[in-house]
Amino acid sequence: MKAAVYPGSFDPVTYGHLDVIVRASQIFDELTVSVLNNTQKSPLFSVEERVNILKEATKDLPNVKVDSFSGLLIDYAKSNHIHVVIRGLRAITDFEFELQVAQTNRKLSNEEIDTIFLTTSLEYAYLSSSSVKEIASFNGDILPCVPAFVADLVYEKYGYKR
Ligand code: PNS
Repeated sequence: MKAAVYPGSFDPVTYGHLDVIVRASQIFDELTVSVLNNTQKSPLFSVEERVNILKEATKDLPNVKVDSFSGLLIDYAKSNHIHVVIRGLRAITDFEFELQVAQTNRKLSNEEIDTIFLTTSLEYAYLSSSSVKEIASFNGDILPCVPAFVADLVYEKYGYKR
């Protein structure tokens, strides 16, 4: 069975992430979308909230599981017998950082774990969770960026009811 993990902050999940999730789920037998529990960041949504949002957003994809992790990604992947990491690339600006992380993970895992990049569909290449949060914080329109139920939850965090 070919399994892969798609790690990320997903704070919140965007259509760009969902595009990568759908496409990766068509390539692998099982895809685990895993939310990083990063104590250094102060996220808009708790890990539990992000996991629940991702579960709802991927409920029609039977081979997609949602989980969370803390610590090193390679340790999490190894303990789940996963050897492939999926990451999305939106633009050349993502590349340098992602290349460094992928090479570090390959080295740290004694070459047991490889990263496969999916290029984000052009229509979503401009999207980021940070810009979604900034737009929503000013009560701007995030419906082109995230599913409607996610938009409602984001607006709620900023005290808006739309
Ligand atoms: O959505 P993000 O914030 O770009 O995701 C980044 C993520 C979660 C993939 C990355 O920060 C990560 O894997 N962190 C776990 C810690 C780790 O393994 N670090 C070693 C790589 S240098």
